[in-house]
Amino acid sequence: MNIVVVGSGYVGLVTGVCFAELGLRVTCMDHDAGKIDRLTMGDIPIYEPGLQNLVRFNQKAGRLSFTTEAAACIGQADAVFIAVGTPTRKGDNHADLQYIFAAARDIAPHLRGYTTVVTKSTVPVGTGRRIASVIRDVNPAASFDMVSNPEFLREGTAIHDFMRPDRVVVGAESPEAVEVMRRLYEPLTRQDVPFVVTTLETAEMAKYAANAFLAMKITFINQMADLCEVSQANVNDVAKIMGLDKRIGSKFLRAGPGYGGSCFPKDTRALAETARSLGVDLGLVSQTMTYNDTRKHKMVDRILASFQGSISGKTLAILGLTFKPGTDDMRDAASLVIVPALKAAGAHLKLYDPKGMEEAQSCLGDDAGEWCANALDTLSGADGAVLITEWDEFRALSPETIAKTLKYPVVVDLRNVYDVESMASAGVTYTSLGRPVASVLSAPVVRAKIEAL
Ligand code: UGA
Repeated sequence: MNIVVVGSGYVGLVTGVCFAELGLRVTCMDHDAGKIDRLTMGDIPIYEPGLQNLVRFNQKAGRLSFTTEAAACIGQADAVFIAVGTPTRKGDNHADLQYIFAAARDIAPHLRGYTTVVTKSTVPVGTGRRIASVIRDVNPAASFDMVSNPEFLREGTAIHDFMRPDRVVVGAESPEAVEVMRRLYEPLTRQDVPFVVTTLETAEMAKYAANAFLAMKITFINQMADLCEVSQANVNDVAKIMGLDKRIGSKFLRAGPGYGGSCFPKDTRALAETARSLGVDLGLVSQTMTYNDTRKHKMVDRILASFQGSISGKTLAILGLTFKPGTDDMRDAASLVIVPALKAAGAHLKLYDPKGMEEAQSCLGDDAGEWCANALDTLSGADGAVLITEWDEFRALSPETIAKTLKYPVVVDLRNVYDVESMASAGVTYTSLGRPVASVLSAPVVRAKIEAL
């Protein structure tokens, strides 16, 4: 089968390359001629583990090609996937659908024979039907069916997530379209991946519901971390105990500086807007968004408190800048709030991220601080360190190494990477999230306070 994937961003590229790997003939189409030139040369504009090798391999095998021209590929396609961005619209919190409708207008005149048009992008409920009407307006003779096939890929593990998904969701209205989707995903469903057929609306909503729920789960554990902090409980252990309950599950219960990335922030905003415009109160989602935004700022107060309220003139090592490890993506990263605030408070910053240096420099500005070559270089001679992103390179640092490399062994860990006791034994003044400091672990006064609650 032939497919075209419109939009060679994160989702489009991973989708196209993985379908090629499953044996389909895939054309990735994007208007950005510079990007298409780079991709044609096998050069990947984003960092995603394994992606570059897969692109080159499938190009060589003749299954994967890149173009800027709809006319060159849409007519031969059995299915056209729309995978363009749906960022937050300027001026309000709705998803901006201009790229979606532009893609629909772009492909419509070139449809030949029966084609399945599939939305991969995350779009508000009802968008699939609006796309179909745009296509019909441009090309009334087109023979096509609309499908919603949301992606559940995580950056950093996107190829694994595509090849071994928890489920494939297909929102479709005709048996022909379902059959096309079944054939496309057959290599996965043969391995018992659940294939869920539903309506367009349900598929569209399910994607937002999943992201909003995960964002809420993270927010819940972050709020628990706040409570643990003032009650000497340990949020890591609380999360572990909660996670052992199969009804809750252990994933997405890691306290942190607030979720970021290209999806949770924009998707929670869009879902809340959809609910508002349909007259439904989605208070849980709104509170999640508000708390998460505030949390990033609260992390700055936390850092200041760890340095007795003043960091003016101090040198701080900043470990990790991307919104999570395994990606170079800086979108809505906590560092975008924390780094400028620390700089404004007068600190000299030494900055380092294993994969996100280029992106971070362009988002934070070259003059955000001193850009370092590795973790040790960053820590060297600093008056303290702040860990924002939990890259393995930072996990691998021993408390003793941290203590002897910093000028003053003060560490604020916003991902609970290190062991509280080991840091204390190495002489590090260590602050993490929702975990008691080593010295109060056995304090009777504290225990009495909890018993009195
Ligand atoms: C997210 C979803 O996990 C994917 O299923 C979905 O397909 C994708 O959005 C999307 O809509 O395209 P992603 O944004 O790549 O994937 O990143 P996540 O791994 O979900 O992490 C999001 C944020 O939550 C990160 O800032 C991460 O550090 C934070 N997080 C995650 C926590 O703070 N604690 C956790 O326990 C888990």
